[in-house]
Amino acid sequence: MPQVLEFADVVVRRNTRNIIDHIDWTVTDDQRWVVLGPNGAGKTTILQLAATLLHPTSGEVTILDERLGRTDVFELRPRIGFASSAMARRVPPEETVLDVVLTAAFSVLGRWNEEYESIDERRARRVLAAWKLEHLAERTFGTLSDGEQKRVQIARAVMTDPELLLLDEPSASLDLGAREELLQLLSGYASEPTTPAMVMVTHHVEEIPVGFTHVLLLGDGEVVAQGPLAETLTAEALTRTFGIEIVLSEADGRYAARAASV
Ligand SMILES: Nc1ncnc2c1ncn2[C@@H]1O[C@H](COP(=O)(O)OP(=O)(O)OP(=O)(O)O)[C@@H](O)[C@H]1O
Ligand SMILES: [Mg+2]
Repeated sequence: MPQVLEFADVVVRRNTRNIIDHIDWTVTDDQRWVVLGPNGAGKTTILQLAATLLHPTSGEVTILDERLGRTDVFELRPRIGFASSAMARRVPPEETVLDVVLTAAFSVLGRWNEEYESIDERRARRVLAAWKLEHLAERTFGTLSDGEQKRVQIARAVMTDPELLLLDEPSASLDLGAREELLQLLSGYASEPTTPAMVMVTHHVEEIPVGFTHVLLLGDGEVVAQGPLAETLTAEALTRTFGIEIVLSEADGRYAARAASV
């Protein structure tokens, strides 16, 4: 399988600390990764590297066969979809949902002529429907609930048909129903053969969608464990990652974790 992402001995140094500390990691185009770890572990930093928004202090990051530092990131960025709450905060609250998704195509592809505009609008409406947002197309972004805003962020990120999709905590702050709805959509998306490689950051094993294949457990900038979900996501590995003794259970492809009773 073709590689879409490769980290080789990657370090990101801030002040005197390595916030990413000698990470080796490879993602191929058929894999869906979860990056799991406590606050401050370096998860968002990893996504920023993968999104070309950050360069490593040392080591090599290769994205879609292009080496960071040796390639024009402005050519690479259109091939990567990235959704995060930091990006959502930059969306003007008065922009309509349709425009939030459509402008992904305009800004990335520089399409301004009318023929493309109507093709793009049809695609944007298809993407909105796929993420259960069609009824909100004309609403302004600022009036949406958190759950709806999360789905719009993802719709915007997939609008350009990216070869790599990066999601930073897509289900953070959602209620139980909204979280489960989003996880179902992510599972469905993850299982489609045309879907690109995915990397999703989360704090909670309960938020791992069915169909995700691999996990990177990160603690304090270092890889605690990485590999196929079924064999890598263990109580022992979570205990090392989060620094408290964890009990893990799994049912129907979904996980649940809690502290071991003392
Ligand atoms: N520009 C910076 N200067 C100094 N420290 C930084 C900088 N950017 C990030 N850090 C630190 O690097 C560490 C990793 O940050 P990062 O945002 O990647 O963590 P995270 O795993 O995404 O955490 P969270 O789960 O809270 O979102 C944190 O301790 C953070 O304070
Ligand atoms: Mg983060």
